[in-house]
Amino acid sequence: MAGHRLDQLKNFPFRRIDELLNGLAPGRPPVFMQVGEPQAAVPAVVSQTIAQTAALFGKYPPPAGSPGYREAVARWLERRYVLQGNSINAATQISALCGSREGLFQATLMAILRKRDWLGDTGIPPTVLVPNPMYHVYFGGAIVGGAEPILVDTVAENDFVPNYAALPKDVLDRAAICFFCTPGNPTGAVATRAALTEMLALARKHDFVLAVDECYSEIWFDTPPAGGFDAAQDLGGVPDNLLVFNSLSKRSGSPGLRVGFVAGDAALIEPLLMLRSYGGAQVPGPLMAAGEALWQDETHVIANRAHYLNLVEIADYHLGTLPGFHRPEAGFFLWLNTGATVGDGETATRLLWQHAGIKVMPGRYMSQTDPKSGKSPGDDYIRIALVHDPKTVEDAMSRIAQVLSTHKSIN
Ligand SMILES: Cc1ncc(COP(=O)(O)O)c(C=O)c1O
Repeated sequence: MAGHRLDQLKNFPFRRIDELLNGLAPGRPPVFMQVGEPQAAVPAVVSQTIAQTAALFGKYPPPAGSPGYREAVARWLERRYVLQGNSINAATQISALCGSREGLFQATLMAILRKRDWLGDTGIPPTVLVPNPMYHVYFGGAIVGGAEPILVDTVAENDFVPNYAALPKDVLDRAAICFFCTPGNPTGAVATRAALTEMLALARKHDFVLAVDECYSEIWFDTPPAGGFDAAQDLGGVPDNLLVFNSLSKRSGSPGLRVGFVAGDAALIEPLLMLRSYGGAQVPGPLMAAGEALWQDETHVIANRAHYLNLVEIADYHLGTLPGFHRPEAGFFLWLNTGATVGDGETATRLLWQHAGIKVMPGRYMSQTDPKSGKSPGDDYIRIALVHDPKTVEDAMSRIAQVLSTHKSIN
């Protein structure tokens, strides 16, 4: 990974789309499907709770979250992963986060410091194991922390699940933290419980942090995806070496609330909180109270799931017969291989914007490029966020199908 560290942070995906489409006019009234931002109304309990607890804006919020919020998260995890009641200690195994992004980033820094201390004064950098393509924050954390990012392709050949176990022993020994995103962004793939359990065993063997990013865990269509706490159950019931990240942004369609959590090994939560007490943001009291109410309610989540299933059905109806279509197992992204129709993802993004007014994300911008080959595993893909109302999605999918099939026949 050559280049200055700040330069390596310039590849922020949204900035790159703006550059790619700079000067190009949308061919139809635009629909923005490049960002995974749920567009449905925020559950009413959010504004009601904020109104009732507004006096808490007059108080500094506790850095790790209010006791009520942490209890609500602990009990939710126990219900969701069918754990014994009161088996999670809300005071030591949970922290609130201002959305999971900042937690993922700061946990990376914490894990790198922890591994550096362990490696001693050798000058050899810790590694950070990252899926490729990825949620870009994992890579950014590795770069800022001065670690060596190790990219592991998640491609059709491995069912879009990274095979970290195949990495050399030296890389695993130096690993500070390993990211497992399930359900996957951008691929929509779900890791099996066995794969997670194997990863947690590997994390314990080489003493790294297994960070399971579960922010799409509640948007499933068939059976609830396995999570980090399932793996911990399989390995004796304790979450040693495990940090699980989740958020209300997707589950409860409230990305602007900025409320999430990290849960797992108390011996990792403690140093993370120490780091956050220097540079972390606190969730404001009324927002945390709203978050507490949301974790206690599943009705709106069930409705959300039905909404996203409908959107996936609409996408399948319009795009299902195109070569390169892959129905997501969970989550709300389509990870569409356009290599077989119009060409690479950047070409497809430009075409869709110019001919259909649809803005999508080129897969290359969700991936890191190999400096030697100049290629990335996302090159032939686009990511489409299914986050609008069904009518908008219906219209957008038919526009996309039209562009991809028309330009395919021209090619
Ligand atoms: C895979 C993944 N993880 C984490 C996040 C962060 O979400 P938030 O900070 O809103 O919780 C996102 C947001 O898009 C994401 O896609």
